[in-house]
Amino acid sequence: MNQIPLLKSLPKPTRDIKSRSGANRAELVAIAKEFGELYFDGPRNSGCGGYRYDGRWVSVAKDLIRIYNLSAGMRVLDVGCAKGFLVKDIIKVAPDLEAFGLDVSEYAITHCDPSVVGRLHLGSADKLPFPDKSFDVVLALNVIQILPLERTIVALKEIERVSARGSFVQVTSYHTEAQKSDCEFWSLSAQHHHSPAGWLALFHEAGYTGDYDWTIFD
Ligand SMILES: C[S@@+](CC[C@H](N)C(=O)[O-])C[C@H]1O[C@@H](n2cnc3c(N)ncnc32)[C@H](O)[C@@H]1O
Repeated sequence: MNQIPLLKSLPKPTRDIKSRSGANRAELVAIAKEFGELYFDGPRNSGCGGYRYDGRWVSVAKDLIRIYNLSAGMRVLDVGCAKGFLVKDIIKVAPDLEAFGLDVSEYAITHCDPSVVGRLHLGSADKLPFPDKSFDVVLALNVIQILPLERTIVALKEIERVSARGSFVQVTSYHTEAQKSDCEFWSLSAQHHHSPAGWLALFHEAGYTGDYDWTIFD
């Protein structure tokens, strides 16, 4: 169980924290939690501000393959895969790998990249519709904190259950009170926030033995 900076090559996102304040914040939260068109492809203050493929996941895919020593025929699952961009780039970098995704958003799955049609499943992180140890490596990037706390623990157990060789979760966290406040304010859909020590305690409670890293807003 190691902290691994798997997403270190991604460009740093721009976040205008104040754009999510104001009288309509409850409305923005409701929009985000639907994970529909307005979350993915609407304005930035209610979600991603246009979730489009730009090749940024290629370097993450290369790091993933190197770190987990993935070779021909191995299977990877990306839980909370959105439109499947990482799945696309894993196959692009290593066409002999078997990469799949799962997401709760029907909008994301039905607007996925054409190259991953048939590889993405509709479902929830806390009820993975797969047999035990059916993937070599399972990833969940900035998704498990969206579930209520008890279901986050179940999701960690599910990730542990379906992974045979390794797993990796990326979650929002903070070191300082200012980072905690930004994290709580910016994350429209996250249901709970924890310090690194808090997350490690949750991993322990769930029996999660995989790797992890923190998304820190600064
Ligand atoms: C912050 S986005 C992250 C997307 C992608 N992993 C990334 O890092 O760009 C959160 C994703 O989790 C999905 N999601 C939300 N709740 C989920 C659940 N219970 N099970 C699976 N996916 C979920 C959303 O639809 C969305 O695609």
